[in-house]
Amino acid sequence: MRSYLVAGNWKMNGSLAANAALVDAIAAGVSIAPKVEMLVCPSSPYLDSVGRRIAQTGIFLGAQDLCEQPVQGAFTGEVHSSMLIDLGCRYVLVGHSERRALYGESDALVAEKFAAAQAGKLIPILCIGETLDERESGQTEAVLSRQLLAILDRNGIAAFANAVVAYEPVWAIGTGRTATVEQAQSAHAYIRSELAKNDAKIADLVRLLYGGSVKADNAASLFSCEDVDGGLIGGASLKATEFLAIYAAALAA
Ligand code: 13P
Repeated sequence: MRSYLVAGNWKMNGSLAANAALVDAIAAGVSIAPKVEMLVCPSSPYLDSVGRRIAQTGIFLGAQDLCEQPVQGAFTGEVHSSMLIDLGCRYVLVGHSERRALYGESDALVAEKFAAAQAGKLIPILCIGETLDERESGQTEAVLSRQLLAILDRNGIAAFANAVVAYEPVWAIGTGRTATVEQAQSAHAYIRSELAKNDAKIADLVRLLYGGSVKADNAASLFSCEDVDGGLIGGASLKATEFLAIYAAALAA
């Protein structure tokens, strides 16, 4: 039985004061329920303060990115996995489409980041998904396969026993245009089947999140899909009532 994960990716937003208010409002509505894990991923400078604030609330802490290097050293501006662990992180996003598109992260670099996360005892949330052009030209599955294969080649199927995959169609991110239930279920089933070619049990247990304009009013139908095990939420995770309504939809699913 897979548990749900409802993850808020705050992206490059926030301040000490705004984060404190947001996280307190979220915490007030979260119950420690084994069925659903709640996660917030603030910008790195705020991991410490948010982490302290969510202690004992049952909310987990995650980072939005990490350095691919296996050891600390002369990599100005980068953040090592051990630092994220130090601050109480349990999860880290790798390969978010904004990192891939705006900062040139290749499949190979994402695979190194995935490896660095696991070596550092963080759970990677691997983000994959096609652009609008790729979808319209019928390449969705080929893109998902390529992005998964880069991780499988580098890390092996066993790595997915302790990882999460987020399907985030690029055309749905921040656009208000959500994938339909059929599109989401079809992509998720495909991702699971690709992993099942390597190990059926691991494929069955891996949590697959949907991300891309998830809101309070579409979360329940997305979470009702057989292969959708939660969401990776951007804009709606910055509003406590909206984020809590999405959490409630996961609890009710
Ligand atoms: P939105 O929910 O704002 O579309 O963002 C999705 C996302 O990129 C989460 O990682």
